[in-house]
Amino acid sequence: MGKVTILNHPIVKERLTCIRKKDTDNKTFYDNLKLVSQVLCIEATKDINTKNIEIETPICKTVQPVIDENIVIVPILRAGLGMVDPIRDLLPKAKVGILGMYRDETTLKPVEYYAKFPEHMEDALVLVVDPMLATGGSACDAISQVKKRGAKNIKFLAIVSAQVGIDNVVKNHPDVDVYAAALDDHLNEKGYIVPGLGDCGDRLFGTD
Ligand code: PRP
Ligand code: URA
Repeated sequence: MGKVTILNHPIVKERLTCIRKKDTDNKTFYDNLKLVSQVLCIEATKDINTKNIEIETPICKTVQPVIDENIVIVPILRAGLGMVDPIRDLLPKAKVGILGMYRDETTLKPVEYYAKFPEHMEDALVLVVDPMLATGGSACDAISQVKKRGAKNIKFLAIVSAQVGIDNVVKNHPDVDVYAAALDDHLNEKGYIVPGLGDCGDRLFGTD
């Protein structure tokens, strides 16, 4: 069964409070989303493989670890784009696969419109990232898409989640671990997370 981790840290909580406020401007929203994405990434990668290499400090020769794992970041467009750069800052060798998907406003079902993935997904740790895990429809479809390309080691990272979305991912993809910075109360009649932060793509990019 997939592991579910909800971050529980005062710094993350304060950044989320800022992100949630409706008056927070697009740039401040993005800056705070970046920091929370990095904490999520650090948590989700704490068990990745390392190998030892020999280096020389100003004091002596020593053997020290470096990351030894192929990593692919897969953002779900649009909002997932906001999580890519902060994660690449931590994992500069990671490759990026792009999955274009939007949620139909009436049916709440995801509609795919673009996909481009790097080769060798089967050997990589694949981090599927999307700030919002609401019904879980987009997350489940995205995970199915990366599995179709051979991915076997997959983690899903969200900023704000709802229990129904987490349950959906765990039920349909029990081999996938889920990480979220917050678990909110419920979804409203339009499928938005409550209290949530509104439409994440719009708030990141200044559209509405
Ligand atoms: C949002 C969000 C997720 C999806 C989550 O995307 O970024 O992809 O909704 O909802 P779900 O869990 O119910 O599937 P949206 O459809 O608003 O597209 P956008 O990012 O292009 O605005
Ligand atoms: N997508 C969003 O951007 N926000 C929500 O609350 C739910 C889905």
